[in-house]
Amino acid sequence: MAAQDPIGLFDSGVGGLSIMKEIRRLLPHEDLIYVADSKFCPYGEKTPQAIQERARQITRFFLARKVKLIVVACNSASVAALKELRAEFPLPIVGVEPAIKQAALFTKKKKIGVLATGLTLSGERFTSLVEQFGGGITVVNQACPGLVAQVEAGAIDTPETVAMLQHYLEPLEEKGVDVVVLGCTHYPFLRPLVEQLVKPGIQIIDTGAPVARQTQRVLAQTMLLTSSQQMGREWFYTSGDPSVVGPVIERLWGHRGEGVRPLPAAFST
Ligand code: DGL
Repeated sequence: MAAQDPIGLFDSGVGGLSIMKEIRRLLPHEDLIYVADSKFCPYGEKTPQAIQERARQITRFFLARKVKLIVVACNSASVAALKELRAEFPLPIVGVEPAIKQAALFTKKKKIGVLATGLTLSGERFTSLVEQFGGGITVVNQACPGLVAQVEAGAIDTPETVAMLQHYLEPLEEKGVDVVVLGCTHYPFLRPLVEQLVKPGIQIIDTGAPVARQTQRVLAQTMLLTSSQQMGREWFYTSGDPSVVGPVIERLWGHRGEGVRPLPAAFST
C-alpha cells in the first residue's frame, strides 16, 4: 500500500456515490475506484452471509487493483460485513452508519425518524447506536422497500418516487419527529424531494461528510494521504450491465470519469 494508490468504494449499486461525492469534495487529489454491485442489488433484502460473500469478492478485486483503503459506502453492507472484512483483510476499512449521534444532538422535540433498509434497522449495530446515543429519545424507524430501486433506475424525481416517499414519511410526521436521518446511502439523492415533502423546520441529515472526514483521518494516521497535486481520477465498475448502469452513474456523478467498466467475472459471481 502506498500513498499514491487509489481508494476503493463499493455499494449494492449507485447509492455509495453520495459518500464518494463528499470524499471527492474533501480529498480532491485522491484517485477513486467505485464498484456498483448492481447485479446483487438490493443488499437490504439479502442475508448477511450473502452480503459478506459479495463484500469479500469486491475486496479481493480492490486488492488486485492495489487500493490503499476501502470505504464500505453502504449501511446494509456495513451492518452485515464490516466486522468480517476488518478481521480478514490487511488494509484500513471505513464503514458507514446512520447518523443517530448527530440526530440526538439536533433534536429539540426528542423525536427522530430514521429511513433505512430493513436490514440496517434490524442489525445489532443499529440497536447499539440507538442504545449508545438515543437515551431519552424516541426513535421512529421506517424501512423503505422499493426506494433503492427508484434511485438505481435514476428515477430521483418521478411521481412514483414522490408517492413512495410520501408514504414512508407520513408515520414520521405523525409521530412529530423534528430530525429525519437518511440511513441508506441511496437516499441523499432524494434529499431535494424529502425537503419538499416534510414540514418546514424538520432537519434532514446523512453521513456523507462525517465518513469523508473519517476517511481523511485514517489516511493521515496511516501516512497514506496522497501528495499528488493533480486532480484525482475516478474509475467505475459494475457487476451489472455497464450500458444500463453507466447513464445512471453519469446522471448522479456528473460524468463517467475514466469510464464505466464491467466488474471482471471472477469477482461477479
Ligand atoms: N445503499 C445501501 C445502504 O446504505 C444499500 C441499499 C440496498 O441495496 O438495499 O444500505
